[in-house]
Amino acid sequence: MREKKFRVRRSYDETAKMYDRRYISIQNKKYLDIINHFQIPGDELILDVGAGTGLFSKFLEKQNQVISCDISFNMLKEGIKNNGLIFTVVCDSDSLPIRRNSISIITCFSVIQNVPEPSNTINQINLILKEGGKVILTALAKLFSLEKLRDLTDNYYKIIDSWKLPIEDNAIVFLKPKKREK
Ligand SMILES: C[S@@+](CC[C@H](N)C(=O)[O-])C[C@H]1O[C@@H](n2cnc3c(N)ncnc32)[C@H](O)[C@@H]1O
Repeated sequence: MREKKFRVRRSYDETAKMYDRRYISIQNKKYLDIINHFQIPGDELILDVGAGTGLFSKFLEKQNQVISCDISFNMLKEGIKNNGLIFTVVCDSDSLPIRRNSISIITCFSVIQNVPEPSNTINQINLILKEGGKVILTALAKLFSLEKLRDLTDNYYKIIDSWKLPIEDNAIVFLKPKKREK
């Protein structure tokens, strides 16, 4: 498990300088589709898990405060330099150093196909998400069918929407119910 994480981190550290050039147009198409599907409110504190160079964080920062976290130092460094990231945390998505029940919107884009045990990341997200808070998550469709994404999140969440993005990924939006709604 640790070896896989080290390998993933090294690979993103080594390619960080090229990431935006290589992926910006693909990622932007995904973000546009997400925004057309799901209205992201303004004036929120958003946690972007596996933010990379912050292509989506940058977009969200127009109307919100965003904490961008990632396991790769170099990806965040590029994000600070090129995309103006403000709050960044180098950390593993399986062990997020963020207060419990403190965040009302969490985004996690094209990340969980890289983690050895996606349910650990989902557990962490669940811990720090406020009751009533929402998560927008995408993952490579060839590895995560919509059914698999729904199964991963079914235990704690109410699923609001799930759909296929125009390129590569499937997406799901879910909500942590308030205690009285359970
Ligand atoms: C395909 S990139 C996506 C980056 C960004 N979310 C985007 O939309 O462009 C995957 C990112 O997940 C990060 N990542 C992989 N495993 C991680 C982990 N265990 N914890 C935190 N970040 C991780 C990588 O370093 C990389 O920046």
